[in-house]
Amino acid sequence: MRIDILTLFPEMFESTLGCSILKRAQEKAIVDIILTNIRDFATDSYRKVDDKPYGGGPGMVMMPGPVFDCAEHVRKLSSEKGRVILLTPQGQKFTQEKAGQLSKEKRLIFITGKYEGFDERIRIGLGAEQISIGDYVLNGGELAVMVIIDTIVRLLPDALGDEDSPKDDSFSEGLLEYPQYTRPEVFRGMKVPEILLSGDHKKIAQWRHQQAIERTKKFRPDLLKE
Ligand SMILES: C[S@@+](CC[C@H](N)C(=O)[O-])C[C@H]1O[C@@H](n2cnc3c(N)ncnc32)[C@H](O)[C@@H]1O
Repeated sequence: MRIDILTLFPEMFESTLGCSILKRAQEKAIVDIILTNIRDFATDSYRKVDDKPYGGGPGMVMMPGPVFDCAEHVRKLSSEKGRVILLTPQGQKFTQEKAGQLSKEKRLIFITGKYEGFDERIRIGLGAEQISIGDYVLNGGELAVMVIIDTIVRLLPDALGDEDSPKDDSFSEGLLEYPQYTRPEVFRGMKVPEILLSGDHKKIAQWRHQQAIERTKKFRPDLLKE
């Protein structure tokens, strides 16, 4: 998979992309993640990428010119056309199901906003879909895209070792994951459930499934309705 990220703050991605699973996945060539600075496509000597909103009001709006030029340049960097995604609080809400769909794409192009957001002609002209990571407003799309790529990359084949398999993860089957325990067997008077020490894998699987249902009922009953 190739992921392009168009941003005004590429430096924000250094630690996220340089650690742990995202770092390993790039080293193993499971994913290529390429950052492009939208400001490099500004046309004036101040490298201006935003301007006041028509009609008045607070803040600044991202101008269409630099974002369009940047997106058109990036699109040509690969023969794979790619799916163009704008990060915006007005988009469709990101879910594990959406992550699964996106993880099957060969190329994703994310465009992150800043200030008061994008000139509307960016969304229309680029034919971009919109994704939000939740009903709240961030200062910029960078953290949102980090959340999304972190979720997608762990679903790519070979990105995780077997021991980290995402198949039982919360939301993957519409349920929360069962409770997990590790050593010690007793911690501050709290014991690991006997069944997990039994070595009976069939019974353990049944217990885990039952626990997943009970936890979902208790903590996220809305998931069961869906
Ligand atoms: C301050 S926000 C702009 C919000 C915009 N004025 C509005 O009310 O819809 C600046 C940028 O942060 C990003 N952003 C903010 N909240 C987000 C969210 N919940 N999901 C995805 N991106 C978000 C978007 O890229 C957005 O263009």
